[in-house]
Amino acid sequence: MKQEKMLYLETFGCQMNVSDSEKIVALMKGIGYGRTEDPRQADLILLNTCSIRAKAEQRVYGHLGKFKSIKSRNPRLIIGVGGCVAQQEGERLLQKAPFVNLVFGTHNIHLLQEMVSGAERGERRIETDFIDDEKRFDLFPATDVEAGVTRFVTVMQGCDNFCSYCIVPHVRGREISRSAAKIVEEIRALAAAGVTEVTLLGQNVNSYGRGGADEPDFPGLLRMVAEVDGIERIRFTTSHPKDLSDTLVYCFSQINKLAPHIHLPAQSGSDRILKAMNRGYTRTEYLRKVALLKQACPEIQITGDIIVGFPGEDEAAFAETLTLLDEVGYADLFSFVYSPRPGTQAAELEDSTEYAVKQQRLDRLQQKQKRSTLELNRSLVGTVQQVLVEGASSTGDCLFGRTGGNRGTLLDGAPSLAGKVIPVRIVEGLQTLLKGEVLH
Ligand code: 5AD
Ligand code: SF4
Repeated sequence: MKQEKMLYLETFGCQMNVSDSEKIVALMKGIGYGRTEDPRQADLILLNTCSIRAKAEQRVYGHLGKFKSIKSRNPRLIIGVGGCVAQQEGERLLQKAPFVNLVFGTHNIHLLQEMVSGAERGERRIETDFIDDEKRFDLFPATDVEAGVTRFVTVMQGCDNFCSYCIVPHVRGREISRSAAKIVEEIRALAAAGVTEVTLLGQNVNSYGRGGADEPDFPGLLRMVAEVDGIERIRFTTSHPKDLSDTLVYCFSQINKLAPHIHLPAQSGSDRILKAMNRGYTRTEYLRKVALLKQACPEIQITGDIIVGFPGEDEAAFAETLTLLDEVGYADLFSFVYSPRPGTQAAELEDSTEYAVKQQRLDRLQQKQKRSTLELNRSLVGTVQQVLVEGASSTGDCLFGRTGGNRGTLLDGAPSLAGKVIPVRIVEGLQTLLKGEVLH
């Protein structure tokens, strides 16, 4: 007889889902589920899904198809779907995939123990209600995954911006900030367990703390976190350009522990498209913030997100996005072809550009960025960077770490360097990585 029940968990999408999955693992452990990497060995299969673009959503249905055949050989297998697709589809998911036992939304993970226990007794259940207060953060046990070197800490969830293309406000609900005292308490515990770097996580971290009279704003929270002994490096993601205050910009020159990197999605370089996207800033305003950031912190690395082929984007508007790249000098860029999402404002807009044209624009944009990333990586050769060593590289034959600017770096050295920030001379700049030598 098997000792332990087994969970196979697959996570799609963003860091928030990765963070939620850590909680899922802890909760399932609490009711006797260990982990397996093989879905055929599983008693419980959970998918934590993403619906940001149609492709991500299709992958979920593709995976479910695979699990259906496993279930036909093991009828006792419990299959649950959570995350953004679950939130959006709810009941429809059970109709499309009748072999699914459980559907849990983005605010319902705390119900998962009783949902799975119910499923063991043959119940089917859907829970997709939103919890629109801070209670949402208090419903979880502390996650007990191995601490490691670098960890994400949720500071807020949800988004109130309603960019016209974006499903996030629909599937993640309204913005809620977590209390600063609880965030600091969690980070103290992580530091005590050996964590060196924390990334403060939220859909829109810059609007952290709004509404709570006794609570700090985001710059105030950064200062509190910077006081935690043992934490040597702080990052945050994601920032909305319209909420990036001057006070936050100055944190980059005032808080030593704040890493010189910011992810600041522009989405487009055209004012007309930015307006149609409901982004709340112009190209000039975006560039002003970039200039301020560079002034406050000359070595700052800026990364971003771009959507190409938004309805109404013509060649001239796209050309403005290309010149934005030149003006910002992104270290890296995540770029996507626009994907209409059901229920969003932009899904109603007329869109006459052929998909092939959009794909070509994406290729042009990505080629351009690839050249500047390589140029940047090469320009770092000869410089000394402070690298936080995360552990062995994926190939296992050297160490992997990140510079303050978030460039992945390979270096030779003792495994005991893991968790330490050390000076490294960069000797080679490749397309996606740097190579460096530890300075003694
Ligand atoms: N289509 C394409 N890309 C999208 N993103 C968000 N919604 C869409 C969409 N409907 C991109 C944005 C965002 C990133 C997380 O995903 O660039 O910043
Ligand atoms: Fe989506 Fe805009 Fe919110 Fe980002 S800020 S999650 S793009 S609605």
